[in-house]
Amino acid sequence: MQFHILTLFPEMVADGLCTSILARAMEKKLISVETHNIRDYTENKHNKVDDYTYGGGAGMLMQAQPVYDACEAVQESLPSRARVIYLTPQGELFTQKKAAELAQEENLILLCGHYEGIDERALEEIGAEYLSIGDYVLTGGELPAMIVVDAVSRLVPGVLNNESSAQTDSFGNGLLEYPQYSRPEIWRGRQVPPVLLSGDHAKVDAWRLEQSLLRTKERRPELYEQYMQEHPPVEKNKRRRRAAKAEEPV
Ligand code: ADE
Repeated sequence: MQFHILTLFPEMVADGLCTSILARAMEKKLISVETHNIRDYTENKHNKVDDYTYGGGAGMLMQAQPVYDACEAVQESLPSRARVIYLTPQGELFTQKKAAELAQEENLILLCGHYEGIDERALEEIGAEYLSIGDYVLTGGELPAMIVVDAVSRLVPGVLNNESSAQTDSFGNGLLEYPQYSRPEIWRGRQVPPVLLSGDHAKVDAWRLEQSLLRTKERRPELYEQYMQEHPPVEKNKRRRRAAKAEEPV
């Protein structure tokens, strides 16, 4: 999967993404991250990319021409036109589901704004999709773009060592992840929950689901409600009948 990042601060993005798991994924050519400096596409002699907003108001706006031309240059270098994601607090909220959707793409163009944002005409002409990483305002789209690259990359097959770990993550099944423990069995007088040492996988799974449900209910009640609507609890009697039926000889 190839990420193409349009930014005024290419070194910030490149430096921030070239360590640990993503660096290994790049070495293995599972992903690539190319940065493109929007300033390289200006047509004025001072390489100016911003100007005052029409109608007044504080702050400067990134002008349409360099943004559009930078984006077109990338599009023309690709075998087919890629989706363009503009990072903005005004966008759709970025979720694990959205990350999974974007991970299906071969190429993705991420557009980072600065100052008061980008001239709306460029965004319309580009056909950009608007994406927000949360209800707060950052100084630019670079950190949000890096977050999108990270969350999407780890869903690309081969990027994580253990394929199943992306599935058991928080949100993988609509719930927060259960608590995890490693050695030693007792640390500062605190014991690892005995069920995890039992070797009984069915019991471990049941305990983990219960913990995920408890944790989600407490910390993210709205996610819990949604999960319960999508997974209504099966009545005890029904469950017994189902189990008995499964054991009946055919
Ligand atoms: N740019 C500034 N703030 C942002 C946010 N919350 N999400 C995406 N892009 C942004």
